[in-house]
Amino acid sequence: MQPIAAVQHHLPAKDPRLNLYGPILLLLAALLLLVSLSFSSSPSPSPSRSNPLPISSSPPPPSFAYLLSGSDGDASRLLRLLHAVYHPRNLYVLHLDLAASRDQRLRLARSVQSVPAFRRHGNVHIIGRPGRADPRGSSTLAVVLHGAALLLRISDGWSWFLNLHASDYPLVSQDDLLHVFSVLPEDLNFVQHTSNLTWRETHRLKPIIVDPGLHLSSKADVFYTSEKRELPKAFRVFTGSASVILSRKFIEHCILGTDNLPRTLLMYYANTPSSHRNYFQTVLCNSPAFNRTIVNHHLHYEIWDTPPKRDPRMLNLKDFENMTQSGAAFATQIPKDDPVLKRIDEEVLNRAPGRITPGGWCLGIGDTDPCSVSGNSDIVRPSPRAMNLTKTIEVLLSDGKFLSNQCIWE
Ligand SMILES: *[C@@H]1O[C@H](CO)[C@@H](O)[C@H](O)[C@H]1NC(C)=O
Ligand SMILES: *[C@@H]1O[C@H](CO)[C@@H](O)[C@H](O)[C@H]1NC(C)=O
Ligand SMILES: *[C@@H]1O[C@H](CO)[C@@H](O)[C@H](O)[C@H]1NC(C)=O
Ligand SMILES: *[C@@H]1O[C@H](CO)[C@@H](O)[C@H](O)[C@H]1NC(C)=O
Repeated sequence: MQPIAAVQHHLPAKDPRLNLYGPILLLLAALLLLVSLSFSSSPSPSPSRSNPLPISSSPPPPSFAYLLSGSDGDASRLLRLLHAVYHPRNLYVLHLDLAASRDQRLRLARSVQSVPAFRRHGNVHIIGRPGRADPRGSSTLAVVLHGAALLLRISDGWSWFLNLHASDYPLVSQDDLLHVFSVLPEDLNFVQHTSNLTWRETHRLKPIIVDPGLHLSSKADVFYTSEKRELPKAFRVFTGSASVILSRKFIEHCILGTDNLPRTLLMYYANTPSSHRNYFQTVLCNSPAFNRTIVNHHLHYEIWDTPPKRDPRMLNLKDFENMTQSGAAFATQIPKDDPVLKRIDEEVLNRAPGRITPGGWCLGIGDTDPCSVSGNSDIVRPSPRAMNLTKTIEVLLSDGKFLSNQCIWE
């Protein structure tokens, strides 16, 4: 990241609307060129053992910290997702919430233990004392913050925090994602957000809700109190996606920081519905130190019904073309064992059933699992899909898009 910092020092600091990430576009353009050059020379860009992909020569890849969470019956989905997004550079915390039995968690732990690569790199952790996560209340936010706190504690080597649900799935390999993020400034946050609350959302912020997931050990529904309150005046409310990609600096601000805004907002959101969709958005946009670092996109592909329901609609095989051409990094909401997952495994991730998505670090040859032998995890072999993702981010960071979509208050 050295060259970027150097360029930034020379920028005049007068215009407050200046796009500080302008120089990054040059780097992204360079990256794009790099990837396209590497592929123009090889007639078949499909990653195969006989025709290994070129090694990337961009800056050393960063490291991601993933929170993968699920609920009752999600153990096998979490395991599949883990195989799909695994890379030895990254860190993983798995959370199977209290609705799932202890037995399911034990089976998940045993399955993780039985994968040699996970054991060898020691970078997959399972939360042994999980919480209850009700996406209608605020307990899901408690789980996300818990996962982020654990990830901070386990390692100081990662640059971005990503939370995925068991129903999410990657649309690029980790080699692609690491390659693209290697040229991005580490303070960027990818969070879809808007202050344009729908009538229903506005309506739902006024009642005070209680999420028993926070204080009861048995399962109980969220409920509303009869008292209502006004929308907040001391800060601006933003809402958005449940999935976020957050910089380490911002996670530290939320969890360890001495500025009290993250805690004040946490207390406010304790009694609002689906606070995991509002909390990070609101903290980011109300913090002068962070409100310029937010990219208004979560890099997920999702489709909403009209009128929108609480969650995006489920994706299936019919969506395969659109989602894989979209230039997104993840797909949101795919049903368990849907055939589209198999197609993504085969055509996008090059992942065999039960195996890890292969990457530049996998050195096994012959019929064995390539990732049964670990090589240098600094070596990533991006595929042409990295180009698509680079283009997406390039557009998001361009002057026209970046500042004009940031924390707009209407
Ligand atoms: C806010 O959302 C409503 C419907 O959800 C839409 O009609 C309106 O154009 C939006 N306003 C802005 C400024 O985007
Ligand atoms: C960020 O915060 C500063 C200081 O409060 C404010 O002047 C600026 O308008 C904010 N920017 C955005 C995009 O919200
Ligand atoms: C795919 O995208 C095209 C063009 O935007 C659209 O017409 C079509 O309905 C989409 N297909 C699905 C399944 O969403
Ligand atoms: C992604 O690549 C496909 C062709 O490989 C192209 O049709 C599509 O427009 C690209 N999408 C983006 C966002 O660049």
